[in-house]
Amino acid sequence: MKSFGHFDDAHREYVITDPATPWPWINYMGTEDFFSLISNTAGGYCFCKDAKFRRILRYRYNGVPMDDGGRYYYIKDGDTVWNPGWKPCKTPLDFYECRHGMGYTRVTGEKDGLKADVLFFVPIGHRCEVHRVKLTNTGTVKKTFQFYSFVEWCLWNASTDMENFQRNLSTGQVEIEGNVLYHKTEYRERRDHYAFFGANRAFDGFDTDRETFIGMYNGFNAPQQVLAGTSGNSVAHGWSPVASHRFDLTLEPGETEELIFVLGYVENAPEEKFVAPQVINKAKAHVMMDAFATGAQVDAAFAQLRAFWDDLLDRFIVESEVPELDRTVNVWNQYQCMITFFFSRSASYFESGIGRGMGFRDSNQDLAGIVHLIPDRARQRIIDIASTQFPDGGCYHQYQPLTKRGNNDIGGGFNDDPLWLIFGTVAYIRETGDFGILQEPVPFDNQPGTEVSLLEHLKISFSHVTDNLGPHGLPLIGRADWNDCLNLNCFSDNPDESFQTTENKTEGSKAESLMIAGLFVAEGKDFVELLSHPSVAADPEYVLGVKESVAAMEKAVKQYGWDGEWFLRAYDYYGRKIGSKECEEGKVFIESQGWCTMARIGAEEGLCDKALDSAKKYLECEYGLVLNNPAYTKYYIDYGEISSYPQGYKENAGIFCHNNPWVIIGEAMAGRAEDAWRHYQKITPAFTKDQELRKIEPYVFCQMVAGKDAEKPGEGKNSWLTGTAAWTWKAVSEALLGIKPQFDGLLVEPCIPIGTYRIHRRFRDAEYDLIIRNAGRGGKVFIPYKPGKQTLEVEV
Ligand code: BGC
Ligand code: NOJ
Repeated sequence: MKSFGHFDDAHREYVITDPATPWPWINYMGTEDFFSLISNTAGGYCFCKDAKFRRILRYRYNGVPMDDGGRYYYIKDGDTVWNPGWKPCKTPLDFYECRHGMGYTRVTGEKDGLKADVLFFVPIGHRCEVHRVKLTNTGTVKKTFQFYSFVEWCLWNASTDMENFQRNLSTGQVEIEGNVLYHKTEYRERRDHYAFFGANRAFDGFDTDRETFIGMYNGFNAPQQVLAGTSGNSVAHGWSPVASHRFDLTLEPGETEELIFVLGYVENAPEEKFVAPQVINKAKAHVMMDAFATGAQVDAAFAQLRAFWDDLLDRFIVESEVPELDRTVNVWNQYQCMITFFFSRSASYFESGIGRGMGFRDSNQDLAGIVHLIPDRARQRIIDIASTQFPDGGCYHQYQPLTKRGNNDIGGGFNDDPLWLIFGTVAYIRETGDFGILQEPVPFDNQPGTEVSLLEHLKISFSHVTDNLGPHGLPLIGRADWNDCLNLNCFSDNPDESFQTTENKTEGSKAESLMIAGLFVAEGKDFVELLSHPSVAADPEYVLGVKESVAAMEKAVKQYGWDGEWFLRAYDYYGRKIGSKECEEGKVFIESQGWCTMARIGAEEGLCDKALDSAKKYLECEYGLVLNNPAYTKYYIDYGEISSYPQGYKENAGIFCHNNPWVIIGEAMAGRAEDAWRHYQKITPAFTKDQELRKIEPYVFCQMVAGKDAEKPGEGKNSWLTGTAAWTWKAVSEALLGIKPQFDGLLVEPCIPIGTYRIHRRFRDAEYDLIIRNAGRGGKVFIPYKPGKQTLEVEV
């Protein structure tokens, strides 16, 4: 089978050795508010704070060839033009390697005795990308060649940049000063920001007008200036502003030349925008250029970035006999959780960065992957999310990162949403012990003056469910539950409307969700534990009420939600069953099997084991568990988007990796280690055998792998930004390896068919080194929290 790369565990890198990957394999850079996407051929773009409104580089979606637009360096050596990252010229290289590491990417190309090694990273504390280029003459003769940089600017709003040409083609403005090319489109009016691309030494030529640099009918692969070995020294006025430097270089055999480029973003206060009429204030750009003027400065900034990640990833380390498990846990899963936390679902090679805001449910779930890494940022995120809630416990489905306001276009009415606030907050407090967050004043719908405590927000999240029960005493689904595509009140027959935003017919609807029922019971039990903790000591009467509601829900599930061998999925608008043996298609669904078994509903009566067996029997295939079976083969107007997908894809019987961990955790809670471990291995990319089939990155989880009913089962899509990251983290760290944060300590309760392994775990101010001797008996040991270093042997 063809391989495109391999893991380098010691450096926490993935090494790509063939540039023609089956899909661009990307990485992310940035830790604060300046972020970049970078592919293995240096394609991609960057933005500050918001991928839609503050887009810095232009990127071409749906392009042919794929992945056009990026930071391109060209080398013209005699008649040969090549790029260190292979694209866009695609000149065959003598050597190519791309190393995606933690927050940086390093691309190395070599051709005809000239080696170009380009390190890309976003330094901590600066709003820029730094590119350190090392050019080495590896041959035996002196080399004289031209070296070009190139980026293309986006006119800031990534959406209108692709549409409003009658305006855009006249607005572009640049300035050139020293070694730096500035992009200042719209700065003269309402913008307080500009971008720049500078080099740490004087250039021999430049271009800022795309047509001059590339030529009207050429592609990125054949810029006319590069082909001619010249620069146009062009100053862009409208059309498409770009930035390119040219350096004429000579290297003796063995000699290395280093160039440093900074691609930065600056904001200025209104009164400081200009230093003279039409001349922008470049002070902050100068500061950034000066910060990366020498190789020593770059080395120091890079070391700081590495230290940042080393410190984070030192918080949880497993050493087992399974390298695929170790590298997933110790590096890539945690890294992906961080990236998902930063980006939510906004910008990837499957999310355009212009569509969705921060999801209420998504962002809460993402917390589970990062509370142990960046608890302070988790805390702020919880407050931000809760601030978009309404007094009745409902909430906006999404909010905008720039304003933190609820998104009116999509609105609310997704009835699982409120419960995720309990989920996220409990995860945070279990990790940190910070019960104080419950007393934080948090407004409704961001309106000052409406503040109540976060605890009150949790209470109304809980009662939003009990206030919205359907005819069987099960939760009304509203627009949709976790499955955005199970639209039971939508009835859309108009291809021009979106399933997510179209007007719903909820009045008189009997549509109920077993997924929300399971979520309610599971989170209800957590909520009771939280409320009963001495640090909260909630009113016993209130706690009793919560317990009674949970018990009533369990009863309703057993009475109306059990189909004989598995849990039903839902009742539709008319009160008919979904996910039942009575259905023609879509007889078994994963979500309710996952949530009801995690909630242990009917465990004593054997319902959980039966449900898990049914998941195995009907949903499991070679690559994981599909979402539903049999897949829908036609459009059901009363089920909505789920039945719009061809069978085997996305929510219609795709392997929706996000919900596989629910079954994995359910299996572990039932003590079925072999099943839990097998399900986990199937969706975990480090175990990928066929990289070509999987197509997308073998180092990160994806949202969806084509299911058994698809044309090409096993083909992955929608990598990186997915709840799968946080949920597999929860599944592997807590359910399988058994390290479960509790309000007062760590509970060690593994369920994995691996004998002895070590865990290094930082927990609040404690640092545990655990040797776990797992006899597979399903035992557990509680370690009360105590600050300081401790080495313990745990036998279970
Ligand atoms: C997708 C879902 C997604 C939803 C909201 C649907 O088309 O299939 O996975 O959550 O859109 O953007
Ligand atoms: C992706 C969405 O981001 C998430 O909120 C949803 O639960 C899943 N799709 C399933 O529809």
